Amino acid sequence: MAMTAEFARIAVDVAGAPYDVVIAPGVIDRAGEHVRPFVRKDSVAIVTDAHVATHWQARLDTALGAVGLTGVWLILPPGEATKSWTHLAQVVDFLIAHDVERRDRVIALGGGVIGDLVGFAASMVKRGCGFIQIPTTLLAQVDSSVGGKTAINTAAGKNLVGAFHQPALVLADPDALDTLPLRETRAGYAEVVKYGLIDDPDFFGWCEAHGAKLIAGDAQARAHAIAHSVAAKARIVAADEKELTGVRALLNLGHTFGHALEAQTGFSDRLLHGEGVGLGMILAARYSVRRGLMAGQDAERIAAHLQSVGLPVSLAALNMACDGRRLADHMTHDKKMDAGTLPFLLLRGIGQTFLAHDVDLADVAVFLDAELAR
Ligand code: NAD
Ligand code: GLY
Repeated sequence: MAMTAEFARIAVDVAGAPYDVVIAPGVIDRAGEHVRPFVRKDSVAIVTDAHVATHWQARLDTALGAVGLTGVWLILPPGEATKSWTHLAQVVDFLIAHDVERRDRVIALGGGVIGDLVGFAASMVKRGCGFIQIPTTLLAQVDSSVGGKTAINTAAGKNLVGAFHQPALVLADPDALDTLPLRETRAGYAEVVKYGLIDDPDFFGWCEAHGAKLIAGDAQARAHAIAHSVAAKARIVAADEKELTGVRALLNLGHTFGHALEAQTGFSDRLLHGEGVGLGMILAARYSVRRGLMAGQDAERIAAHLQSVGLPVSLAALNMACDGRRLADHMTHDKKMDAGTLPFLLLRGIGQTFLAHDVDLADVAVFLDAELAR
C-alpha cells in the first residue's frame, strides 16, 4: 500500500458532535491547515508535557505560524501523577487566564495523561469549551484520544473523577512515535492487540505477523495498526458513547486486572498503564480458562505474543509482595462496580470477549494467588 499524506480519515459518529480522526505521517508539521478552520482567534492555547515539548513544541509552533496562529503554551510535568486535582486546577486557570471562550478550541498535545487532563479541563471551563487532540503516544493514537473519556486520578484510585467530553478533531501523526521511548511504544501496543482480542481474530493474527515490525518503527505497520484500531474504536463509541449498553465496556478488556496491578505498584514507572492492560488481558484469558470458557492454548497464544514483543507477562517479576486477596481488594474500588458486583470482561476465545456479571472476587483472589506463584 502506498503511503499518502493522509493515510486515513475516520469519522467518529457521536450524536450531536461527530468529528474526524486524521491519521497522517507528518501531520504535526501540517497541523495549521487542519486546525485553522476550528480556531476563531489568532492565538490558541496548547497544553503539553515537558518530554513532548522537547521534541514537538517548535514543530507545532512552526506549523501553526504558517497559517498565522500563535500557540500559547502550558508545559506540565510528564507522568501519571499529572492527572491530579492540582494540575487540573492549573490547566483550568491557564485556560481562563487565556480568555478561552466556549466556542474556542484548546489543543492537547501529548499522550493519554495530557489528553485525559486537558479534555477534562475543557469539559468544565465556561461549562465546556472545545478541544483538539494531537496524540503523541501509540496508546493515545489508538485509544485514549478517541471517544471522549476524560479524567483525573484521586487518592482513592484511577480515573475516578471525569467526564465524557468529545474532541472536535484528532490529528494522529505516526511520525510522532519516532521520539517515543521503546518501553512506551510496547505499552501502547497492548491496546492495539486488545482490538483483536475483543472481536477481531484476524487482526490478532495480523498483530502476530506484524507487531514486532510495528514496534520497531515500520511506517506501514504503524499506520495500518493505528487506522485499524481507531476504526474499531470509532464503531464501538458510535454504538455506545456513554458506556450504557455494554458495547463500549468491551474496551475495558484487561483493565480490571490491570488497574489492580497498577494500584498495587503505586501507579508508577514500575508498571505502565499499557503494560498493566497487557498483563490484565493475559489474566482475563487465563481466568476464562479456569472458568472452562476458553481453551488453554488460546490463552497461552496471547501470552506468547505479548512476551514475544517484549511486554511483561509475569506477575512474580513485579515483586509486589502481596497476595491475591489484596489485588482483588483493589478491584472493589473499580468505577465499574455496579450494585456491589463487578462486571468482568472474559473471553470464549480470541476475538470473543464478553461481559460476565457472575464473577466471584474470592475466586479471582484464589486464581491470582496461583498466578503470583507461577
Ligand atoms: P503518557 O501520556 O504518560 O505518556 C507516556 C510518556 O511518554 C510520558 O513520559 C510522555 O512525556 C512521553 N511522551 C509522549 N509522547 C512522546 C513522544 N512523541 N516522544 C517522546 N516522549 C513522549 O502515557 P500514555 O500511555 O500515552 O497514556 C496513559 C494514560 O492514558 C493513563 O492515564 C490512562 O488512564 C489513560 N487512558 C485513557 C483512555 C481514554 O479513553 N481516555 C484510554 C486508555 C488510557
Ligand atoms: N479506553 C476505554 C474507552 O475508551 O472506553
